Amino acid sequence: MQVEDFRHALRRLGAAVTIVATVDRDGMPRGLMMTAVMSLSFEPPSMLLAINRSASALPALLEHGRFSINLIGAGEEEACRNFAAAAPESRFQADHWEQHPDRVPIYRNAIATIICDVGDVQTFGTHAIVRGLVRSTRYTHSTDCLVYLDGRFCRTAAGDGLQLP
Ligand SMILES: Cc1cc2nc3c(=O)[nH]c(=O)nc-3n(C[C@H](O)[C@H](O)[C@H](O)COP(=O)(O)O)c2cc1C
Repeated sequence: MQVEDFRHALRRLGAAVTIVATVDRDGMPRGLMMTAVMSLSFEPPSMLLAINRSASALPALLEHGRFSINLIGAGEEEACRNFAAAAPESRFQADHWEQHPDRVPIYRNAIATIICDVGDVQTFGTHAIVRGLVRSTRYTHSTDCLVYLDGRFCRTAAGDGLQLP
């Protein structure tokens, strides 16, 4: 198996764009853009994340023990590009973020935010597999999420396809 073929196959795997955010011990916001985020179970309410062990935000996330998963909406492409391109310490532009009472930064324009406590963490090769135990959620009326597909940000909207019974 060639890794390059695997990479090409994965370009066809569209995934919702999220920004995972936490704070470091000095209270500074830390975070990364992520697509390897999935719901795990309703009982207990939980999420699963695969975070590269080299990600600068990982130590803060593990130490703080809490993080927000901000689901990014269509129309936020430019803000996302800026976030992804910025140095770790200048990713968080104050006007895009607010502090949640649960002591994590939350993205003002997120279509939904899921706040988790860090549960179990496992190492798998280059990645840390983090189970998040959901503390609280908030969401908007919009379900138009931003999707990363074929190396690009794409828009999608519920209602474009068939409704399941
Ligand atoms: C669209 C997109 C999705 C990404 N998804 C993940 C992911 O699921 N897990 C991860 O560890 N890094 C992911 N990354 C990379 C991180 O956002 C980040 O660039 C990387 O961790 C380096 O961060 P650092 O400069 O803070 O160390 C993604 C990047 C982009 C642009």
